[in-house]
Amino acid sequence: MAIAALSQPSASTSDLLREGEQSLMFTVNRPDLVMVRGKGNYLWDADGKRYLDFIAGWAVTCLGHSPPALVRAMNRQAKVLINASPALLNEPMIRFAKLLTGLSCLDKVFFTSSGAEANEGALKLARKYGAVKLNGAYEVVTTWNSFHGRTLAMMSATGKEAWESLFEPKVPGFVKVPFNDLKAMRQAVTDKTCAIMIELVQGEAGVFTADKKYMRGLRELCDERGILLILDEIQTGFGRIGKLFGYEHYGIEPDIMTLGKGIGGGFPLSAMLAKDAACVFEPGDQGGTYTAQPLAMAAGLATVTELIAKKLPRKAHLRGNYLRRQLKVMSAEFGFTEMRGMGLLQAVDLPQPKAADVADTCRLDGLLINAPRPETLRFMPALTISKKEIDEMVGILSGAMRRVL
Ligand SMILES: Cc1ncc(COP(=O)(O)O)c(C=O)c1O
Repeated sequence: MAIAALSQPSASTSDLLREGEQSLMFTVNRPDLVMVRGKGNYLWDADGKRYLDFIAGWAVTCLGHSPPALVRAMNRQAKVLINASPALLNEPMIRFAKLLTGLSCLDKVFFTSSGAEANEGALKLARKYGAVKLNGAYEVVTTWNSFHGRTLAMMSATGKEAWESLFEPKVPGFVKVPFNDLKAMRQAVTDKTCAIMIELVQGEAGVFTADKKYMRGLRELCDERGILLILDEIQTGFGRIGKLFGYEHYGIEPDIMTLGKGIGGGFPLSAMLAKDAACVFEPGDQGGTYTAQPLAMAAGLATVTELIAKKLPRKAHLRGNYLRRQLKVMSAEFGFTEMRGMGLLQAVDLPQPKAADVADTCRLDGLLINAPRPETLRFMPALTISKKEIDEMVGILSGAMRRVL
C-alpha cells in the first residue's frame, strides 16, 4: 500500500516529460519514460510497465533495487543522524573504514561521494607522494580507452579519443599508452612519473580485460621505479567480476585503490584506499563537505555486509559463467564476433553496428541493456540476478535481435 502510494506519479508521463524537457539541462538523450519504482531486478515506469534491469544503475545496484537490508539500515540511520560534520567523527564511518581495510589489502580509507571524486583523491595522493618522496615527480601514466570519470582532471586522465579536444586546456601531467602493452608502459615511465593508474577491466570502453602477465609486469615496474600502482576498481570492485576486489584475480596488490558504484548499493558513495606507505596527506590536503557522512556510511556498511553474508562475489562468478553459456548458445544463431568479460561484467560484439537499435528494441520489449559501442552490448545486472532472469533476458534479447539484424 505504502509503496503503491509512493510510486504513484503525480502527473501523466507526457506532462512529466514536457516539464523535464523544460527544466532539466540537456546533457544526454533519454528515452521517453519516467521510472517510479524498483524492486529486485525489475524497474517500473510511470505507466506501470515493467523492465528487467541488466544495467543496474550502471553496475551500481549490486543487491538489486531497494534491497530490504539497505532500506532498513538507511531508515535506522536517518532517524538518529544524517549528517554531523566532515570535521567530526561518527560511528558508522569508523565501523565502515574498519570493515573495508579489514577486507582489502589496503590500510587507510578516505570516503567521497562519486567515482570521479575518489579518483581525484588518488591523483592528489600520488602527486603529493611524488612531491615528497620522488623529487617532485608528478606525471601519471594511464591507458587509451580507459575511463576514470567526468571531472576536468579525470577527463584529462581518461583515454577516450573523443574527449581529447574537449574542454581545453586539460589538466596537464597525464601520459597515455595502449592497454595491455607492457613495453609501451615501460617506455612511458620516466623520472617525472609518480604513478600508473589503470582499470582491471575497461568497462566503459566495451569490457576489455587486463592480462594477468601485464598486471604482474606493471606491479614489478612500479616496484622497480618506486612509483605507485593505482587501481581504479570503481566498476570491478565489490564482486562485479567474481571476487570481492578484482585484484584478487591477479595475484598482485595495488598501492592505492578507488571504489564506487556497488559500494553503496545505489546510494552515492565512493572511497579511496591506500597502503600506509602511500598515506602522505597532511591535514588540509584533502576534504569535502560530504566525506564520510553517517547516512552514506550506514548505506555502505549495510551493502557490503549483505554482499559478504550472501557470498555475492562467488555467486557473480557462477552466474557470470551461466550468462556466458547462454550467450554462447545465442551466438550460434546470431554470430557474435567476440565475447568478453568476467563475472557479471560481460559484453558481446554483434556482426553489425546495430547495438543501439537492439538496446532500444529491448527496452520496448521490457529489457534494459547497455550499448557502449556501436557493435557492443554490455551485461552488468545486479549480483543477485537469477538463472530464470538470465533466461528471460536471453528470450527478450533474441526476439529483438531477430527483428533488428
Ligand atoms: C572505472 C570507472 N572509473 C570511474 C568512474 C566514474 O565514476 P562516477 O560516475 O561515479 O564519477 C566510472 C564510471 O563509470 C568507472 O567505470
